[in-house]
Parts: sequence; C-alpha cells; structure tokens
Amino acid sequence: KRHIQHKGHLGRFFFQTKPPHDCASGGSQKIERRQLIQSMNLDKEILRRRTFAIISHPDAGKTTLTEKFLLYGGALHLAGSVTARKNQRNSTSDWMELERKRGISVSSTVLQFDYSGHYVNLLDTPGHNDFSEDTYRSLMAVDAVVMVVDAAKGIESQTRKLFEVCRMRGIPIFTFMNKLDRPAKDPLELLDELERVLEIRVSAMNWPLGMGPDFQGVYDRIARKAHFFERTAGGVYRAPVKVQDVRDQEVASKMTDASHSKLLEEIEMLDEVGETFDQAAVLAGDMTPVFFGSAINNFGVQLLLDAFLQYAPAPVPRKSKGESLRPTLPKFSGFIFKIQSNMDPKHRDQIAFMRICTGKFSRDMRVKHTKSGTNVRLSSSHKLFGSDRETVDEAYAGDVIGIVGHQAFGIGDTLTEDEAIEYESIPKFAPEYFSFLHSGSTAQFKRFRAGIDHLLREGVVQAFYTKTSTQRIPLLGAVGPLQFEVFQYRLETEYGAESRLEPSPWRAIRWVDQEAAKELDESDLPTGCRLAFDSDDKAVILFPEEWAVSFLEEKKPELKLRKLPASFGRATPSY
Ligand code: G4P
Repeated sequence: KRHIQHKGHLGRFFFQTKPPHDCASGGSQKIERRQLIQSMNLDKEILRRRTFAIISHPDAGKTTLTEKFLLYGGALHLAGSVTARKNQRNSTSDWMELERKRGISVSSTVLQFDYSGHYVNLLDTPGHNDFSEDTYRSLMAVDAVVMVVDAAKGIESQTRKLFEVCRMRGIPIFTFMNKLDRPAKDPLELLDELERVLEIRVSAMNWPLGMGPDFQGVYDRIARKAHFFERTAGGVYRAPVKVQDVRDQEVASKMTDASHSKLLEEIEMLDEVGETFDQAAVLAGDMTPVFFGSAINNFGVQLLLDAFLQYAPAPVPRKSKGESLRPTLPKFSGFIFKIQSNMDPKHRDQIAFMRICTGKFSRDMRVKHTKSGTNVRLSSSHKLFGSDRETVDEAYAGDVIGIVGHQAFGIGDTLTEDEAIEYESIPKFAPEYFSFLHSGSTAQFKRFRAGIDHLLREGVVQAFYTKTSTQRIPLLGAVGPLQFEVFQYRLETEYGAESRLEPSPWRAIRWVDQEAAKELDESDLPTGCRLAFDSDDKAVILFPEEWAVSFLEEKKPELKLRKLPASFGRATPSY
C-alpha cells in the first residue's frame, strides 16, 4: 500500500513488486508487466480454442451435423450454407462440381466460429475411401474428433478406418449416434457394438426418449434431466426444447407406458452397470462419450456441442524433434497439412493450410520456412469458407489459416519464429494404383505440364519416372482410383489440358536403399518389375503383384525395401 501511495497516479494502475527507490528498473518493470499481460492474453486466447473434425462413413450425417453446429454456434449467416455451398461451388469452382456429380466430398474446408466463450475451428474431411490420405492429414491438425454413426447401421467400414487413425494418434473421440428419428438399432446394442468392434470404453452421456417416429428427445445423464424437443419445418431453426424431470407426470404422459418404464429401467441399469464418464480417459483416447440424437431435426445437437466444448481439449502440445511443445509458448510456430490449388478460379493460386501450434500469428510476420531454410513474410493469410476469403490479421495456437503466395511450401513443412522448432513430417501413404498420364494434344502440352506441376504439389497424387522412359511421361500413383479421375478433371477444367490415362501393370511399390539402388540392374529384378524414381529422385521398385515384393525381399535383403520413402520414419497407418 505504501508503494502505491509513493508512486502517485501510476500506483493506481500498477502493482509494485520492487521497492520504489529502484528507479533504474522502472522501465523494465513496465516491460515485464506488459509481457505478463500479453502472456496472460495469449494463454486465454489459446485455452479457449477447440480444433476438431467430424468423421463418419459417407451418408451418416457429417455434413448435416456440421451445418447444425453452425446453426447452434450462432454462425447464422453461415447456417444453411454448407448445403448452399454446393450451389455456390457450382458457379465458382468447377472441380467441386465433380463432388456433386459423384455425390462425394473431396475437399476439406475449415469453418470457424465463436460460441459460448470458445473459438471453434471445425475441419471438414472427405468421407470417401479414396481420399483417406487427405483425411488423415486433416486429422494431424485437430485435437479431437466427433464421430458420427448412423444408428440404423452401426459401425461401418470407413468409420472404423478413421477411428483407427484417431486411436493411433490418441485423439479423443466423441460419438454421435445419429438418425434416431428413424428405426434404429437398440441403443444398448449400439453401445455394445462400439465397445466390441472398436475396443474402446463407452460412456453414454444421454439416452434416447423413444425411437423412430416416437423419438422425442434425450435424457441427459449428467444433469439428470429429460430434454423434449419439437421438430421445426426442415430443421432450419433450433429445435425448441423443454427440460423436465424424467419422473414427472407430464413426461410419463408424453410417452407410452411401455416406453416410459423401459426408459426408467434403462437409466437405472446404466447408472448401475454402465461406465461412468471419465474425462481423463476420454482425453487419453481410451473412452468415448456417446450422445444420441437426430442432426436433421436438431435433436441433441446442442447437448453434444456444449459437452464437446466443455470436455474436449484445448490445443494440445505437438512434438518438435522429439520434444512436446506447449501451445502457449510465446513464439509462433505451425505446420502445413494441406495444399489446395485453384480453390477459386477468380484467384488462380495455391493455398497452404497451416495449423498453428504455438504462440500467436500476426499478419506480415517474418518466419523461417525450415525445409528451405529461408525467411518468408506471411502477408497473405486467410480464413476460408468455401470460396470466400477473409484476411486474418491475428490467429493463435489451435487455429487453422490459409496462406497464399508461397509455392515452395509443402505438406508437413514447419513455419516458425523459433528456429529450433521443426515438427515431425506427415507420413505419405504408399500408392496402390498406378497409371501413365499422357497429354491429350501437343498444342496443350505446356498447360498440361504446368497443371501437373501445380496439382502434384498438393500431394494427393504422386509422380514417378521409370528409368527407361525417354519422354519422362509421368507415372501417377494414388491411394484410390478416384483420385486419377479428379486429377484429370482438374487438369482439364482448371488448366484447359486434356489428358489420357494409360493403365500400368504395377500394383505395389517399395522404396529402395539408395546405395544399394546404385548397384541395381533392372535385369536382376523379378519378371515384370521396374526400377523408377519418385519426384525427389529416390529410387523405387514397381511390382506387378504383392508376392513379387516378398520374393525380392528374400532374394535381395540388402535393398531394404520400404513401404515409404526413407524420410518418412513412421509406420504406415493400418489402412
Ligand atoms: P455425410 O456428410 O456423412 O455424407 O451425410 P449427410 O449429412 O449428407 O447426410 C446423408 C443423408 O442423411 C442426407 O439425406 C441427410 O438429410 C440424411 N440425414 C442426416 N441426418 C439425419 C437425421 O438425423 N435423420 C434422418 N432421417 N436423416 C438424416 P439425403 O436424402 O441423402 O440428402 P438430402 O436430400 O436430405 O440432402
């Protein structure tokens, strides 16, 4: 108190930690205080961030739930635009028309909104199997996922694959059992299936009140209240809700006697034998909280969103050179997880999507691009919604932003203020489909080459060159055949270059020890195998059948055949 009096008017604002006669340090104290306030603001901003993706088997309701999150998240100007996006895309981005034609979602979009004190980054991920690598990369950028399950179908193949990726990375998973407004599997059976098939502990957070046409809402097991929802026309508005005690006469009167007593019985049984919600187990990826509802009718959506924001983690530490880095570190750093060219023909450019891992991003900041070792200025930073872009001046750890204008950026690259930071690379998947790509006409050859160069940077399709080919016709490799189709379609619509695919006889690929490859003669390989090079000039062998791989492994162990290039030190995901 004495210090405050002594300092006069300044004392009213600044709490003194040192005696006032220490005048020489007055300036540095102010700086320290400013730094303290800045660091508190930084912590506050980072801790309120939630970055997640929704995963599902196609048609389980991922797009619908995304839309409903936006509706409940108060991003009303955006609500409805997830579906409207399809029309918008039609006029602004041709390649997305392919999504509509094929009924698939091939692009990942980042949606951001502020809701109940949280800043939410929601990454949309493609559901189609052929795009699993793209989805995998997006999953590298999130801290949690919501897994949507069609309650009539249970766990489907794609859900299981995506779930495995999440588990491999220890990502917390929140489950939404969707479409309870239709005849569905019994809720207990669904829980059992989750537990059995995915081998994860399951905790029901709420319980359906009726099912199919009688589905009226959910019982919140934590607050011990029944939520009765009303349907709104087309599910365009939030569903009006009445929250009541489950033993209320009024509640009983809303249900048939049989379903009310079944409900009471099940609630009691869950309390007695069901798993208790354990947030630590959820954060460790050992338990999934389960929510029931109907996305299209907005039943249970808000309960899911609120609980998710409450229990999902704030940005989690990421590893740089084996060390986990706290997101609240003051210096900015992040990594690129996705590259997308020509999202909008109005801006024929390439966007690199970056997940910020530590500190604060400010537009125009100079950072190190560790792969090239150069310093770059990040002046063109954007938030995206479909083809709309909004400049971002500031962003924090946990956020995902799009950076335009840096052709040198590649997937997995680190951008950082602290030169010591370098994030682990993102593993590539070994391609399983191979086809030569020829230019459709000599007149378009220049466009054809330029298009290939751009699109290959996105890393969805890889190019290889066989040792004996004279014209360097690229051999494309992809995880799924649909990727070739998208590649050709984009070459034509975005670069005006027609192309022709020529099937190849190869079905498997292995990277080879570089030293051993120098000594290798193609005639030493099993029949039908071919020596080739990837875009980094690393030697690979192409095989017509999987058995030839094991044959060569046995015959020439010195080749040290690998499913991935040597720079990717991790195991292939279990796809
Ligand atoms: P996806 O992104 O996972 O592929 O699924 P999407 O949201 O596109 O939903 C797939 C279908 O399931 C859509 O119907 C959607 O309306 C429907 N759906 C989503 N949630 C619910 C729900 O809670 N209950 C019911 N009954 N249906 C739901 P569609 O006929 O394929 O498309 P649309 O014509 O309705 O847009």
